[in-house]
Amino acid sequence: MPNQKTPPNIIAIDGPAASGKSTLGRRLADALAYLFFDTGVMYRAVTWLALQRGLDVRDESAVAALAEETSIDVRPPSQEDGRACDVIVNEDDITWNIRRPEVDANVSVVAAYPGVRTALTAQQRRIGLRGRVVMVGRDIGTVVLPEADLKIYLDASAEKRARRRYEEIIARGEKADYDEILQKVIQRDRIDSTRAVAPLRPAEDAIILDSDKLDADQVFERVKELCE
Ligand code: DC
Repeated sequence: MPNQKTPPNIIAIDGPAASGKSTLGRRLADALAYLFFDTGVMYRAVTWLALQRGLDVRDESAVAALAEETSIDVRPPSQEDGRACDVIVNEDDITWNIRRPEVDANVSVVAAYPGVRTALTAQQRRIGLRGRVVMVGRDIGTVVLPEADLKIYLDASAEKRARRRYEEIIARGEKADYDEILQKVIQRDRIDSTRAVAPLRPAEDAIILDSDKLDADQVFERVKELCE
């Protein structure tokens, strides 16, 4: 058809923790029938494995060696329990283990190690280059896939993001302290955006959307327009 446009083949969505990237990425991938790939799960998987094995996460070379020798499989969801994908390591399904608080507390440190990033970036790039993919992370548009056809940087204030995390925890029926969550969000932002390798920042050609000003539906509609 003469006017039919194909959507961008590789879509990168970057931004700070809890800005709504995963919600947007999942919806977009569903709408386009693309693979949804949240790259944060890989950093979480290495962190969880390191803790499981009793490694000291401050031991950079041990953690980097673990990242190099571990093959992390990210597959379409096998269960309808709210997961966006299965995360499998050595045949174990660790999809929910990697969401535990001890992983939250240590993952920024692990993600700052250059050796860990080199190993995981290579795995992510291989998957991304297959195309028809929505990839979510911190450095997809800048480092992992600078050739992405559409780059979105989804931003939001620390307060708004902490509020979102707080409400997610309360909705699960667990206890939460907003101020504590806010402090953790600020601390993780600081580590993610000041690290030497692949710091969190928008690519020069990224389209920046502010989810303080737009709700999830508006963000989705805007990105769908951009895809068209
Ligand atoms: O998005 P998330 O909270 O699951 O990310 C977990 C950690 O991994 C967080 O500290 C940022 C880091 N990360 C990264 O450095 N690069 C990516 N592409 C994805 C996540």
